Amino acid sequence: MTTLDRYGVMGYPVSHSRSPVIHRLFALQTNQELQYELLQVTPEKLETAVRQFQRTGGKGLNITVPHKTEVVKLCDHLSERADTAGAVNTLSFRDGEIHGDNTDGIGILRDLVINLGIAIEGANILILGAGGATRGIVGPLLEMQPASLRIANRTIDKAEDLVDHFSRSGSVSACSFDAVPVNEKYDLIINATSAGFKGEAPPYPAAAVSSDTLCYDLSYGLKPTPFSEWAREQGAERSIMGWGMLVEQAAESFNIWRGVRPDTAPVLKQMKITA
Ligand code: ATR
Repeated sequence: MTTLDRYGVMGYPVSHSRSPVIHRLFALQTNQELQYELLQVTPEKLETAVRQFQRTGGKGLNITVPHKTEVVKLCDHLSERADTAGAVNTLSFRDGEIHGDNTDGIGILRDLVINLGIAIEGANILILGAGGATRGIVGPLLEMQPASLRIANRTIDKAEDLVDHFSRSGSVSACSFDAVPVNEKYDLIINATSAGFKGEAPPYPAAAVSSDTLCYDLSYGLKPTPFSEWAREQGAERSIMGWGMLVEQAAESFNIWRGVRPDTAPVLKQMKITA
């Protein structure tokens, strides 16, 4: 009996994840046979669960909230972009070793630039949140040479740590939510907090939104997320949920594991229809 190559997504909570559906659609499209599981793992069990998955022949894992930063310590090798981010969302198990990569940055860039036609070069960008998701996207965004990138976070120290980490790569600054300057207008505001996900509604900086602002929520949902609803209420030019980033980052992970890059457009269309 041949056993299928095993993959999965590890997070806490993880029951909402659409990754199994996306990877099944990619597998069908590219004629690959594999299985992809949902693995709900608490932070205390992360190491044991990853090592058990590896020991039992698993080939690869997606890592999601809240494990993206912690899992770095378990990797024997890190890709340059995962190392720069200090966060990992894709593990590959090869030759008894754990390889960590981060496809979040390329995922959001592909969605913004290719799917949505947004110009990042010269843009003023505000990111809300300074956790693992933000770490993954700051480096790739800075490479596209925005005019400025500000990180606002509830805990200012975490935003400042990120600024220290990335300041050699471009114009990046930090502040708390209530200190986002009211006279600055942003072309792009990205919500990278996990607040909506937990049913919480932080005081997002309303003054930062103008009728030219595109608001992008890394979260996505069956209904509009609290941030995407808030952005619409503030009169943002467009308010978009992160379905595109989700599918794009998954396609990059699939490519790392299987050596073939699926066509994302039909899968994104199907995800939005079934959403
Ligand atoms: P992820 O990997 O998704 O980034 P994380 O590392 O746990 O997850 O980071 C969560 C982010 O959401 C953090 O920036 C967190 O702010 P703090 O650094 O102050 O903890 C932010 N966040 C979560 N809940 C929030 C809330 N209710 N209000 C504001 N920010 C919140």
